[in-house]
Amino acid sequence: MSQAVDECGVLTIDGPSGSGKGTVARRVADALGWRLLDSGALYRLTALAAMRDGVRLDDIAGVSAIAAGLDAKFDVADDGDERILLRGEDVTAAIRNENCGELASQVAQHDEVRKALVGLQKSYRKPPGLVADGRDMGTVIFPDAGSKVFLTASPEERARRRYKQLKEKGISANLARLSIDISERDKRDATRAIAPLRPAADAVQIDTTGLSIDEVVALVVELVRDRLSQPQL
Ligand code: DC
Repeated sequence: MSQAVDECGVLTIDGPSGSGKGTVARRVADALGWRLLDSGALYRLTALAAMRDGVRLDDIAGVSAIAAGLDAKFDVADDGDERILLRGEDVTAAIRNENCGELASQVAQHDEVRKALVGLQKSYRKPPGLVADGRDMGTVIFPDAGSKVFLTASPEERARRRYKQLKEKGISANLARLSIDISERDKRDATRAIAPLRPAADAVQIDTTGLSIDEVVALVVELVRDRLSQPQL
């Protein structure tokens, strides 16, 4: 789609967990001076808020109401680390654990929950630009984005990265268990009826297995700059 409808630059980065999306999205957003939307965090916050409010995850209307009124704030702490607030409370560590990711994947199956989060996700689109990280950013939320990337990596590599990430955060993890959980979650995300994980037809696919974060960031930044420099149709 033409860049003309995309006055505020939008780059979508979709892919399965452990593909490096989150880190790449943050680094690319910094390099371009654009805002960042971590859409997975919104599903994680919805699941966490539902648990805290005693709403069962199969109560779709209840979970959707929580998603529609989600009070989420994304901040950067003094040490440069991300800080995610739910109703004013710092829940950064709580939403990053694997259990919360699993619960997020469950609530994300429901069309009503997904619809309840559409407006919030779109509200992040503000000049000079937005890097949107998720599963359906290029296919559903920002189909007219000027640049789209779909990141993949082998399942073994993704489990290893997740393991390293969790260890670094002081969260205990088991590599074999992680590997199984990741493939189950991928399967659920890719086969669900609504907004399944899949590359947009016009996304550039990058296999990050064997590439460093720096290499992937450089590739993606180059892609966006290239697209921005193309004459608008
Ligand atoms: O990217 P993540 O691991 O933080 O995402 C957690 C879950 O949320 C993931 O298993 C699927 C779901 N999700 C989604 O369905 N759509 C998105 N755009 C982002 C995440």
